[in-house]
Amino acid sequence: MQIHTWILFFLSLLYSSLADHYKGGSISWRPVSPYSLSSPVQVVITYRDSWALSRYACNDTTINKFLTYNDTQNATAASITCISSSTACTASNFTAISSKLYCTDFSTAFDVSTGSYYSKQNLALNSVIDIASRGASWSSEILMNAWSLVSHMDLTPISGKINSSPVSGSLPVIQFFVNELRVIQILASDWDSGQVVRCRWSYQSSTDECGSACFDLPNASLSPIDCAITWTGVLRSADVANGLNQSTYVVAVTVEDFVNASSTTPLSSVPHQLLVQVSYKPAGACAFRPTINSFLLRNRACFAWSVGSRLSLSFYGYISTSCYNHSIVAFVSSTPFNVNKTSFYQYTNFTWVATISWTPTSDQVGLVPICAASVDDYGQASDQNCVMIAVGATGFSILTPTFVQGTASPLGTTLSTQTRFSIQATLPLRRTKLNNTFIYIRGYDVGYYKTIDCKYSGDVYFVNKTLIFFVRNPSWTLGRTYYVDLGYGVATADQYCGTETSYLNGYYYWRFTIWNPQMSSTTTPPPTTTTATTHTVTTRCYDYRNRTVCVEETFTIFLYN
Ligand SMILES: *[C@@H]1O[C@H](CO)[C@@H](O)[C@H](O)[C@H]1NC(C)=O
Ligand SMILES: *[C@@H]1O[C@H](CO)[C@@H](O)[C@H](O)[C@H]1NC(C)=O
Ligand SMILES: *[C@@H]1O[C@H](CO)[C@@H](O)[C@H](O)[C@H]1NC(C)=O
Ligand SMILES: *[C@@H]1O[C@H](CO)[C@@H](O)[C@H](O)[C@H]1NC(C)=O
Ligand SMILES: *[C@@H]1O[C@H](CO)[C@@H](O)[C@H](O)[C@H]1NC(C)=O
Ligand SMILES: *[C@@H]1O[C@H](CO)[C@@H](O)[C@H](O)[C@H]1NC(C)=O
Ligand SMILES: *[C@@H]1O[C@H](CO)[C@@H](O)[C@H](O)[C@H]1NC(C)=O
Ligand SMILES: *[C@@H]1O[C@H](CO)[C@@H](O)[C@H](O)[C@H]1NC(C)=O
Ligand SMILES: *[C@@H]1O[C@H](CO)[C@@H](O)[C@H](O)[C@H]1NC(C)=O
Ligand SMILES: *[C@@H]1O[C@H](CO)[C@@H](O)[C@H](O)[C@H]1NC(C)=O
Ligand SMILES: *[C@@H]1O[C@H](CO)[C@@H](O)[C@H](O)[C@H]1NC(C)=O
Ligand SMILES: *[C@@H]1O[C@H](CO)[C@@H](O)[C@H](O)[C@H]1NC(C)=O
Repeated sequence: MQIHTWILFFLSLLYSSLADHYKGGSISWRPVSPYSLSSPVQVVITYRDSWALSRYACNDTTINKFLTYNDTQNATAASITCISSSTACTASNFTAISSKLYCTDFSTAFDVSTGSYYSKQNLALNSVIDIASRGASWSSEILMNAWSLVSHMDLTPISGKINSSPVSGSLPVIQFFVNELRVIQILASDWDSGQVVRCRWSYQSSTDECGSACFDLPNASLSPIDCAITWTGVLRSADVANGLNQSTYVVAVTVEDFVNASSTTPLSSVPHQLLVQVSYKPAGACAFRPTINSFLLRNRACFAWSVGSRLSLSFYGYISTSCYNHSIVAFVSSTPFNVNKTSFYQYTNFTWVATISWTPTSDQVGLVPICAASVDDYGQASDQNCVMIAVGATGFSILTPTFVQGTASPLGTTLSTQTRFSIQATLPLRRTKLNNTFIYIRGYDVGYYKTIDCKYSGDVYFVNKTLIFFVRNPSWTLGRTYYVDLGYGVATADQYCGTETSYLNGYYYWRFTIWNPQMSSTTTPPPTTTTATTHTVTTRCYDYRNRTVCVEETFTIFLYN
């Protein structure tokens, strides 16, 4: 009896000291010198965690002064351990990480503090281990206890290079209203050129990637290629039974990298866990959620920045003009270590601006996500606006593929059977992940002839630096002149986070006229002097249930010599 009481007492003590504060996190890693193939391999492990603001009170001062967050209840600091066999762990030379995290973000609106930590370790070449951060302290409103973040590390060189893990990013909390359909867009990219990144739900089986928080969002669907989760807000029945009008769920995904789109064997995996908060839309709130954007870059853009240079990034939050009496009262963010934050201010009647400045450190070389959302006076949050920054990449102009105008084909007079179009860029290309990226073929004197969706169309191919697209069964008008416009981001670079190609206006550059044999004044099309080559390329991948299916096609294309 006494023993029972003692155990019960001990258990409740454990519960009260550990419960109540964890709010998700992420891990990623990369070798400092990927081409240096000897032991030890220096690896930087980046760790981010979010906790209840009431337990770890980050504020602008603690963020700008690089202070760590100190738990009011003295719980142990977050740690990362090796969970593979002791033989593998010992052989790898992995040292367990136990460190406080540096404050990077906080939000009173969502009761969350976020911090990050970089650990540099010398690991043995060819190590294959799983590392994990675990605890039993999900924030109490989540109604669960065990949390687990697991990353698979493999330091075996692939084609003369040591792999880097993918990098993921999002806000720590995404807001839904009951019955509202929204997309949770997690950023996921890879530093290694040529590799592809896909997301999947985390599983409890095998390495226990998510503790008690696996598959927590009921009926959500995850697009592996986009890493986008589509869901309709619903309260937990347990919360409703307790008379609550708000529920908080955990989203636990695992991000993996693959050598190419056809491969199904991941090279590495990283965890990404965030919260989804569901409530009723407050009475009196503006009918529209606020919106947000960041200066010149569109949501999910990728760009390069160098170590030691100060980057200033402004996020603009907007209130709908039909909601005159409302205002933006806060920004919620997810930013890297070494940011400097200042208070935001009102810019116009409907616009508020939050500016952060960040000077990347040498430990931050690699991909670094930054996300923000605006929050209005009734607590409605905007969608998140994120950018992925390739720190230490040589330079923006070198990273951005641009189309070489002289390589556009066809140009000039063309037969009415013309179906194949191509243009070369300065860098290897790949299919974009962004919606609304189009190639337009316009009549010179009339409106659109055709629009091709570069994300989804099976008629668009990328072979190294060449973009090729087909117009199946064309109905060109004899004698008419057409031109090709490439919209912003019809393709991305094949490296880092995939910088987008810029707009190419073909009005003067990529113009062709369909030969009209009836008109003697028209020049006969020149004979083709190109070489035929056969290629097998992965044209596109799509999501089938929770699998990604990629189509490989063999086709003959004509490239210029
Ligand atoms: C920020 O947090 C620190 C540490 O908790 C505290 O000492 C300081 O007063 C806070 N500053 C503000 C402006 O709230
Ligand atoms: C947290 O504790 C560390 C040392 O224990 C101290 O250096 C740091 O200033 C504290 N942070 C805050 C915000 O008080
Ligand atoms: C936390 O730790 C400090 C230093 O070890 C100690 O002085 C303090 O009493 C502890 N606080 C709690 C709530 O246990
Ligand atoms: C692991 O660490 C030990 C002690 O620092 C060192 O002697 C050994 O060479 C290391 N092994 C590898 C493979 O780097
Ligand atoms: C999930 O979908 C199924 C089938 O559409 C439905 O019966 C079930 O109620 C849904 N669950 C929740 C929690 O919405
Ligand atoms: C993808 O990679 C696998 C494994 O290296 C290889 O066998 C396959 O040919 C590759 N496919 C393409 C389309 O490159
Ligand atoms: C939700 O419940 C809380 C506390 O019961 C209440 O203050 C709040 O107004 C409710 N919110 C809505 C939108 O009903
Ligand atoms: C952060 O910004 C504040 C306000 O602009 C400034 O006073 C402070 O010096 C900055 N700190 C750093 C480390 O740049
Ligand atoms: C901004 O607000 C002021 C004061 O409420 C008003 O006079 C002005 O017309 C508004 N400007 C715009 C562009 O709506
Ligand atoms: C992109 O477009 C597709 C097809 O129109 C749509 O199903 C998907 O939800 C869109 N994704 C986003 C993130 O808007
Ligand atoms: C694409 O580039 C690779 C590596 O540079 C090369 O081996 C391959 O032949 C190229 N393919 C084409 C179609 O030029
Ligand atoms: C998703 O894939 C996993 C592993 O392949 C499988 O266990 C699970 O049943 C699948 N779920 C659905 C909804 O197809």
